[in-house]
Amino acid sequence: MKRAVVFSAAALFLLALCFALLPVSASDEKKITFSKDVAPVLFNNCAECHRAGEAAPFSVLSYKDARPWARSIKEKVVTREMPPWHADPHYGQFTNDRRLSQKDIDTIAKWVDQGAAEGDPRDLPPAPQFVEGWAIGKPDIVIQMPTDHTLEATGPDEIQYFEVPTNFKEDVYVQMAEARPGNRKIVHHIIAFVQPPAKGEQPKLSKEEIEKYREQMIRDSIFYQDGTLTRTKSDAPVYDDGCAIASGGSGFKRDGSGQDEFNIGMLLCGFAPGMNPAVWETGTVKKVPAGSKLILQIHYSKVAGQVEKDRSMVGLKFAKVTDKELLTRPVSNNYFRIPPGAERHRVTACWSVQDNIHLVSLMPHMHYRGAAMEITAVYPNGKSEILINVPNYSFSWQTVYYLKNPVAIPKGTRIVVTAYYDNSAKNKFNPDPTKAVRFGDPTYDDMMIGWIDYTVDAQQIRPLPTSGKMR
Ligand code: HEC
Repeated sequence: MKRAVVFSAAALFLLALCFALLPVSASDEKKITFSKDVAPVLFNNCAECHRAGEAAPFSVLSYKDARPWARSIKEKVVTREMPPWHADPHYGQFTNDRRLSQKDIDTIAKWVDQGAAEGDPRDLPPAPQFVEGWAIGKPDIVIQMPTDHTLEATGPDEIQYFEVPTNFKEDVYVQMAEARPGNRKIVHHIIAFVQPPAKGEQPKLSKEEIEKYREQMIRDSIFYQDGTLTRTKSDAPVYDDGCAIASGGSGFKRDGSGQDEFNIGMLLCGFAPGMNPAVWETGTVKKVPAGSKLILQIHYSKVAGQVEKDRSMVGLKFAKVTDKELLTRPVSNNYFRIPPGAERHRVTACWSVQDNIHLVSLMPHMHYRGAAMEITAVYPNGKSEILINVPNYSFSWQTVYYLKNPVAIPKGTRIVVTAYYDNSAKNKFNPDPTKAVRFGDPTYDDMMIGWIDYTVDAQQIRPLPTSGKMR
């Protein structure tokens, strides 16, 4: 009798032990594996940056390389820090949207929770193919920095500006543009601007006239030149609410043709971790006026202990068809002043649109204190629409947001750009929370620009000049 009791107790114990050892999930959940379930997600959404030779810290192309990062991968996708995408999904639709579906996030999370197994390698999808070299194909022309830039082994990151002449003798229309680093180890990002020849530099003026003109311009301007860098004078008037002043916030003088006298140039294209090259719809083209220079803004990060050299470049493909010229408008406040320590300092800029236009792309641009930016259209009938909202802006990611469908903006609409800055010590990127900050090129100043690319509905551009004569 006693033995029987002992026996059945032991059996129960064994049974319980069996249940305890069985993975709970086995009964109600299928086993997620890298090869079958996770690799397709990583190949399609991460490999563009997470592979050998690219900006991201590890490759997702093999189980061996990805496995050690499993915990971190789960965390970054669940919090939606990865893939990088900073626009609020409630507003606007963009062709280059990188967000993962909830289903893909759940797959990754479950895979990690179940122990991040490899599964059968025969289930692996084929590795994604990437274009080597130029993403736009062979450029018609490559415009390169004239000399190497040498980056010392130690010290902080550098932001450098390089002026590169195009030597274009006539206006050129560009269908695609791509910026390429000379040395990927150190180039964090490149932004290429077109700087058309300034009025005062036109050859018909004498040297003395040009100098006089420049001096007066500098005296009358809220800006000064610090080497090659344009900065707002520290004693310039302060208007954080740019929409409340006649210029909408711009401190640049305009001569009516829409071109700045004191040029900051037009955005052409960029290179940054994962930034797409500028490829516009066929016939929608950017003009590079005769005599323009390209200005390359390059952010270099150091490789500790190593002197490095770089000669970055921009490749252009000329337009074969020209229907619409893509114009670029920086909706910018150049008068703001961010007080020391301010945690959420609001700055606005406005643009009253004078034609019927279509918006093609939007790009919020600030520096390290930039925290958030929103771009809104206030239509002539009083209704307003948020075109884009970037609630967690990060200077590390210079994203151009390409609209899925160009947005029609009727004449009389006001485009309102609202930026928020964090100049407090809580902002870990803040170079100096004790400083009041104004507008300027260097990254220790800040910027406030909603870059807008658009076409004018009524505009007709002349048929193309022959490309042979362009240089
Ligand atoms: C557009 C380029 C890009 C894409 C796409 C991208 N990443 Fe990243 N990722 C980066 C870069 C650059 C870093 C390093 C800098 C940083 O952490 O911000 C990084 C960092 C990470 C880290 C943190 C590594 C560390 O050092 O702790 C993880 C994890 C990660 N990515 C996972 C993913 C996953 C998973 C995907 C796809 C679902 C993805 N990333 C898509 C560029 C990208």
